[in-house]
Amino acid sequence: MTDLIRVTTGQQIARIEINRPEKKNALLATMYQAMADALLAADADPAVRAILIHGRADCFSAGNDLDDFLSKPPHGEDAPVTRFLQAISTTAKPIIAAVGGPAVGIGTTMLLHCDLVYATPAAKFRLPFTSLGLVPEAASSLLLPAIAGYQRAAELLLLGQPFTAEKAAAAGIVTEIVPETELLDHATRAATAIAALPTSSVRMTKALMKSAQSAQVAERMAEESRLFRQQLGSPEAKEAFTAFFEKRAPDFSKF
Ligand code: COA
Repeated sequence: MTDLIRVTTGQQIARIEINRPEKKNALLATMYQAMADALLAADADPAVRAILIHGRADCFSAGNDLDDFLSKPPHGEDAPVTRFLQAISTTAKPIIAAVGGPAVGIGTTMLLHCDLVYATPAAKFRLPFTSLGLVPEAASSLLLPAIAGYQRAAELLLLGQPFTAEKAAAAGIVTEIVPETELLDHATRAATAIAALPTSSVRMTKALMKSAQSAQVAERMAEESRLFRQQLGSPEAKEAFTAFFEKRAPDFSKF
């Protein structure tokens, strides 16, 4: 099970690889747990000066496993997904993400907590919360309007349609678009460059940029999480998840 998240540390970089390609790197509770542990360990390890999160060049993550949503919905504040979001939103060290292929749901929202995000031209982002009968998570309802402006965020969060790397870069989610063959090397070079800088300056700079919003982020995450859990039990969400596995369009006309 732990092989679904591979964690390696070397040359001052902790690498967290999402490795469930047969399910498009959809995230199970155990995977959130492993990623939260890896982030906390990396933040506490003096040998680590940068953290790199990646999937494969053709798939970052299809977001939360929809089957898990049905069979094991997250309960309470100690749910693995909550632990992961708390960890990624409070990590003091710089986080670099390399994104290729689909980045859906939390596959996109986790990027709002990364410091440098590199994506391939074929990366496909999506925030499908309304089309799943859910609400945004990871404080994306706060952070996306702040970085992209209300109208752009409203398009992405209310319509919930897939969007390109170019659009993600224009919205401020992606730092730079790089060719697929160079994705991991490019992200690794950035992690290496940041790891070579004075660690106290890097940490203080990140903390200064984040501090004004950190209390609001925690508050919004808690509120989103409450509504998200409530919506997970809704007939609309059940219809959306069932439709996905039955490979048909959901029918929300009766709700
Ligand atoms: N949860 C569980 N299984 C998932 C999944 C998810 N979030 N995303 C993909 N899978 C599974 C599919 O059921 C399929 O399994 P199967 O081979 O046993 O049928 C396999 O992964 C491949 O997915 P598929 O849909 O055939 O790949 P694709 O390349 O056509 O599309 C995605 C990729 C990511 C665009 C599409 O799978 C998708 O939209 N997934 C759902 C994303 C989502 O709604 N996430 C939750 C956000 S809150």
